[in-house]
Amino acid sequence: MMSGLEMGRVLDNHPVTRDWFVMDIAAPATAQKCQPGQFLHIRPIPTYDPLLRRPLSIYDVLSASGIISLLYRVAGRGTSLLAKAEPEDNIDIMGPLGRGFTIPMENESIILVGGGVGVAPLMYLARVSLERRCRVKLLLGAANATQLGAAKRFERVGAQVKTASLDGSAGRHGLVTDLLEEENPSDYSRIYTCGPVPMMARVSAWAKTHDMWGEVSLEEHMACGVGACLGCACQLNALQPGYAKVCKDGPVFNIDAVELSPDQGGKEKCLE
Ligand SMILES: Cc1cc2nc3c(=O)[nH]c(=O)nc-3n(C[C@H](O)[C@H](O)[C@H](O)COP(=O)(O)OP(=O)(O)OC[C@H]3O[C@@H](n4cnc5c(N)ncnc54)[C@H](O)[C@@H]3O)c2cc1C
Ligand code: FES
Repeated sequence: MMSGLEMGRVLDNHPVTRDWFVMDIAAPATAQKCQPGQFLHIRPIPTYDPLLRRPLSIYDVLSASGIISLLYRVAGRGTSLLAKAEPEDNIDIMGPLGRGFTIPMENESIILVGGGVGVAPLMYLARVSLERRCRVKLLLGAANATQLGAAKRFERVGAQVKTASLDGSAGRHGLVTDLLEEENPSDYSRIYTCGPVPMMARVSAWAKTHDMWGEVSLEEHMACGVGACLGCACQLNALQPGYAKVCKDGPVFNIDAVELSPDQGGKEKCLE
């Protein structure tokens, strides 16, 4: 479906932890077109400063009421401005953009692995999959209990959730991939993941070991967001020549197409 521009209306914008926010936007035209895993390219305030839009995953959609939700971490200038938005403010959105997740068939059993704010694109996937009567399990990892708040939203739509925190304040003390190691791969037909690169690398290794079909959602610095500037180009796999544009060919890629390193520090670059 075609993406477009829409002036959304902020309905709510509240902190869920110190620097994480959930924003609900009334954007009926865009909401009808969103697919899980796609993103919106957002102008944080209605001026050209900062010049570039900021990409944020579609966290959830209530298409009947035309509401799109975002889950975002305040990282710098653009997201700080976004955090100041108040109900009734207008917000300039472009989207939905990019290639989203492959939706499972009816009655499939799928597992989602999210790390930190990387859980954002998995929520709408869970909702749509549950509407197809799929069984959905989320493994969610974060630094601490307050960052695991998204778990409740998944549970409300009917997903089974297991959590892990690095400081042990909620769920398993440790990494979300420790939870994955305890899962029986034959219980699932598909795996989907988004989060820090080292986490996705471990998820990818697990999927490959068990010959499981999967998809990863990548992040890359973006400018145009629509495939025109090469700002987000990156090599996905050393064995395959050429570059992919994360904004247009992704952000979701098949797990077999992407080579991820468990030693890679941040989540910003898909491959460096
Ligand atoms: C497809 C896609 C979906 C995303 N979805 C979400 C989401 O749902 N929630 C969320 O919190 N964040 C998400 N991000 C990351 C988000 O776009 C950046 O955090 C944001 O653009 C930073 O803008 P800023 O002006 O606040 O920070 P800046 O001042 O521009 O940068 C601050 C810090 O953030 C890093 N950064 C900047 N742009 C990106 C980027 N595109 N990806 C990763 N790191 C970046 C910079 O390297 C720097 O360290 C997504 C990114 C992509 C590409
Ligand atoms: S951001 Fe311009 S090509 Fe992807």
